[in-house]
Amino acid sequence: MEKKKVLVTYNMWRDGYAELMQKYDVTFPPEGAESFTYDEVLGMIPDYDALQSMFNFPVDKRLMDAAPKLKIISNYAVGYDNIDVAYATQKGIQVTNTPDPVTEPTADLAMGLLLATFRRISELDRRLRTPGSVKVELLTNLGHSLYGATLGIIGMGRIGQALARRAVAAGMKIVYHNRHRLDEATERRYGAVYLSLDELLRVSDAVSLNAPHTAETYHVIGAEELHKMKPTAVLVNTARGPLVDEAALAEALRTGTIWAAGLDVFEHGNYPILELTRLDNVVLTPHVGTQTVEIRHEMAAHVSRNIIHFFEGGHIDKVNLL
Ligand code: GLV
Repeated sequence: MEKKKVLVTYNMWRDGYAELMQKYDVTFPPEGAESFTYDEVLGMIPDYDALQSMFNFPVDKRLMDAAPKLKIISNYAVGYDNIDVAYATQKGIQVTNTPDPVTEPTADLAMGLLLATFRRISELDRRLRTPGSVKVELLTNLGHSLYGATLGIIGMGRIGQALARRAVAAGMKIVYHNRHRLDEATERRYGAVYLSLDELLRVSDAVSLNAPHTAETYHVIGAEELHKMKPTAVLVNTARGPLVDEAALAEALRTGTIWAAGLDVFEHGNYPILELTRLDNVVLTPHVGTQTVEIRHEMAAHVSRNIIHFFEGGHIDKVNLL
């Protein structure tokens, strides 16, 4: 029997793909290339049974219409806003994601951005590198205390809860807003209080976005919401850029409407708008929520397993129910 064909859009370390490569005919981008372009994938996809896509690779109607053999899209990410899932479902294509390996490293990064913004770590590091630009005095370089501060988590799923666990250990109080209220036992675990979005914005010293990008969460933080936040508050986004109106955020940071922001994701692709890069009270990282050596290995194994189990039976992380 002919081997099934799997197309991987991005070049990765191969160890996580060993079993997949042994069982199937797997195509990676050529050595030296970072990834296939959309047009390259469009040209190749008619021959493939499985596609392993990245969170920034668009899997749209056009691509799926060119893929008569395609049975599964295994996304290398927990988020899947790059995929037209409704259309995949209509075409009977299974979509899977990687929730397990993503949770803890993303919560680590969110916690890191909280610490970096509250204590101005990046800004002070920058200043210290220019001799004479920073003073060591009792009333300069002041940040805010994480201990005792209230963290408002928008999106209390796996990552939100993993962040809550870290924040509780740091002495923070937790309030949250979510599509559905959590059960009592889970709320008690973090001492978490469920609030409306409005209430959360008004009482939080830090707001962390941990919700997926959907039509409902698009610009969940815009000018109006930023004005409801405390002038001492911090915004952290490790979810998806379009959750925040980035121009409104830059203006709020510039005028002191809020105190600081820590951003790993950006509204318009891989990079922040220029206005943000000119501000000292923003900490920027280039979408590195899962960017650790350990997790790169684990995610590769996870996307591979989803494909193998789909064809041969076993648990898969289903995004759509077929
Ligand atoms: C990363 O952004 C992910 O969705 O896993």
